[in-house]
Parts: sequence; C-alpha cells; structure tokens
Amino acid sequence: VLPVPSFVEGMTQITGYSDADVVLKLPTTLSGRLESSQFMGSVIPQLNGPEHIKRRQVESRIFATASLTEWERSGLREAIDALLIRLATAADEHGVVRLDLPSTILRVLTNLAAAIVGLDGVDTADACEDLLGFVNEYVVGSSVEWLKTSDDERDRVRQHALNTRAEFRTRYLDAALSRRTALIAGARAAGRDDDVPRDIITSLLVHDRPDWDADFMTQQVLMYLSASIGTSTRAITNAVHELLNWFVDHPADRQRAIDDADFLHRAVDESLRLHVVVPALLRRTTAPVTLPSGIHLEAGERFTVLIGQANRDPEVFGADADAFDPDRALRPGINRPAGFAFAAGPHTCIGKRLAVGGGAVIKGVTPNEGTVVTLVRTLLRVNIMVDPDALPPRQDPGTDYDEFVEYAVRIDGLPVAVG
Ligand code: HEM
Repeated sequence: VLPVPSFVEGMTQITGYSDADVVLKLPTTLSGRLESSQFMGSVIPQLNGPEHIKRRQVESRIFATASLTEWERSGLREAIDALLIRLATAADEHGVVRLDLPSTILRVLTNLAAAIVGLDGVDTADACEDLLGFVNEYVVGSSVEWLKTSDDERDRVRQHALNTRAEFRTRYLDAALSRRTALIAGARAAGRDDDVPRDIITSLLVHDRPDWDADFMTQQVLMYLSASIGTSTRAITNAVHELLNWFVDHPADRQRAIDDADFLHRAVDESLRLHVVVPALLRRTTAPVTLPSGIHLEAGERFTVLIGQANRDPEVFGADADAFDPDRALRPGINRPAGFAFAAGPHTCIGKRLAVGGGAVIKGVTPNEGTVVTLVRTLLRVNIMVDPDALPPRQDPGTDYDEFVEYAVRIDGLPVAVG
C-alpha cells in the first residue's frame, strides 16, 4: 500500500483507475490551488474552461511534433554531447567515472529547460546552480500551504519567495524579454513572422497582450521551470533504477533497451506508472457527481486523485501491478501504459511529448523520442551501473515525492559513446 500524502488527509480520495479516468475528464472538474493562486498568477495549471484552452493553444506551439523533432536534433543533442564530454573529462585512467545521478541529470535538465522557456546563457555549472536556486525558492513559495508550520511562518516564506521572484525578473527575465522583443520585431519587418525562437517567452510575446507584462512572464517562466526540471529528473532516475534492477535477472535486456526503441519506451512508461512525479492531483468539482465505484462528490467539494494508487489498480494492470515489467504494455487491455503519470483530461501534462515522445506518424515523419527516453538510453550506452563502492541509493523520507535524492552510479563505457 502506497503512503497517502499527509496534505490530502480529510479530502475525498480517488484511488481507482476508472474513477480517476472519469473524474479527471469531466467538464465540471476544475484544477487549481486556491491558496497559491495569488502567488502563482494566471499560469495554466490554475486556469480552467475557455481561458485554459486558449492559453494552452498559445503555449502548445513549442510542443508541436516539428518543434520537438528539431529540438531533439539540435538542443538536446548538444546537451548530451556536452554531458558526455564532461564525463569523459572527469574519468580516471581506466575510463571510469563515478557520479551522483539525480544531481547530474538535474543540471542537464536545467540547461535544457532554460532553452525551452527562453532564457539565455544558462550553460555552465554555476549558471545552472544559480537558476536552480530561484526555481527551488519558487517551488516552496507556490506550495506554501503544504508547509506544516504557523501562519506567520507561511507569510514569511511567501514574502521571501516574492522577493526572490523580483530578483529573478531582474537577473533573467528583463534581458530575455528585450532580446526576444527585438527578434520578433526584426522577423516582422522582414515579413518572416515565423522566423522567431521556439520558446515559451517568444510564444507569449508574439501575442502582444498588454496585460502580459514582465510580472506575468516571470510567473509563466518560473512555473515552466518548476514543472519540467524536477519531474523529468525523477522520471530518469527512477527509470534507470528500475531497469538496472531488471537487468539483474534479465541480462539480455540491457542491450535490448539500447537497440529496441519500443522496448525502452515501454520501460520508461512502466517506471512512470509505478513512480509518479507528483504525490497527488488536487481538483474541485462544480457539480455533484457519483463515480463508477460509488464515491460521491458534492458540488464545490475539493478532492484529490491519488494517481500513484490508480496506476496500481490490479483490475487494469493485473495482480502483479506493483511489479516492474517493461513488457506489461503488450498485455491486452492496457490502453494507457504509464497510467495517469501525466494526468488525464484538460490538464494533461503539456510537456508529455517533450518528455517521452509519442504521437502519430504524420506524412512519414516519426514522432520525437522524448528527453527522458533519450537520456535513459544515453546512460545505458555508457554502461551505467550502481556504484558498488558507494553508499546505496537513498530516498528522502521527509518528502511525499517518490524520488531518490542520492544515487551513486559508475560509468565505464565512455570512449564508445563519445566516439
Ligand atoms: C516525465 C516528466 C513529466 C511528468 C511525469 C509530468 C507530469 C505532469 C502531471 C501529472 C501534470 C498534472 C498536474 C496537475 O494537474 O496537478 C502535469 C502538468 C503540467 N506539466 Fe508536466 N510532467 C513532466 C514533464 C513536464 C515538462 C518537461 C514540462 C514542460 C516543459 C511540463 C509542463 C507541465 C505543465 C505546464 C503542466 C500544466 C498543464 C495544465 O494544467 O494544463 N511537464 N505534468
């Protein structure tokens, strides 16, 4: 039985697959956290209805197949090459390098996320650290209601996060906005409106909305950074962990995971099903509803969907639903291999395809692979393994997140990968 996050105690908890499927898609189900709305501003997780649909359309531009394929050919490729060079430089005379997996991946993803939102120059270790500091402050400020502390302390944390946000704007936003405003003006003057960077800031700026001022942009950018970096880091570390365990009894699958893209995708989905990146989804309903299991929600009621539990529903995933089986999706009746790892309904993760690829083959163009899948394969190619000489991987018992905070690994396949 998975632990229930303490903050949802007292709320109606949806744990079954069918209930989750129904309730997340209902038009009367609203997303958004009331306590954080002032701090977070009008970011898409806080919007609902037509306003939400419109904003998603604006921001979806950078998640279209063509953008994502191009992104993987250029930005992601460069980041992986830089990582491999960095690792090769750090290797000892036997070509062996030892590192902490989550912190290494966090840095790569910070660099990638900065490019996706449209911040320039976040490409050194120090720059990534600096940006991450801001993101971490934002995460605390935007989830302050979950702090088990006094109201005074919550106010203090909120105020501190607001100050940090103002500093973030001066440090990063102002320069990014000026540069992109000039690029958009240049493209328009040349009659090439589309010839502008594909990032979140540019996607918003092209709409010329006077109410989308620098404060608004700051809120959007910080939300995107916090939605993408930690989530993908957790996903990659957990997938590597599950696969390394799996290879102990299935040694031939190590090469299969490198060579067989479908197998690797299934493995990543299966790991995401078992290790969801957010502890729970919070929703409220505007109308009374009775779910397939008989659970009843009253109009105006706030409730939670425990996606981690729904993802282990034995009626859908089988009696061994708690176990990792990368071939599970081949069994009949499994239509959503990662379960609700990316939620469902209108607030389904907008970055899903960026993270794990997928989507239809359009005019012969195959969809992108996904950052998470590509990075897991990169790590397998350089022969990643748990470092037998270091402390064992460690999770943080003080958080509701299903994540490793330390995971010492050893890599010895670098010459092949770099060549
Ligand atoms: C493996 C990686 C990821 C997982 C498992 C994941 C999972 C999720 C989940 C469960 C939600 C719904 C949250 C809720 O409703 O409370 C969500 C929403 C969201 N995610 Fe992701 N996410 C991942 C990566 C990303 C990336 C890379 C981005 C952006 C670049 C991103 C951007 C967002 C945004 C903006 C939303 C809000 C969507 C909306 O409300 O319409 N996520 N994600």
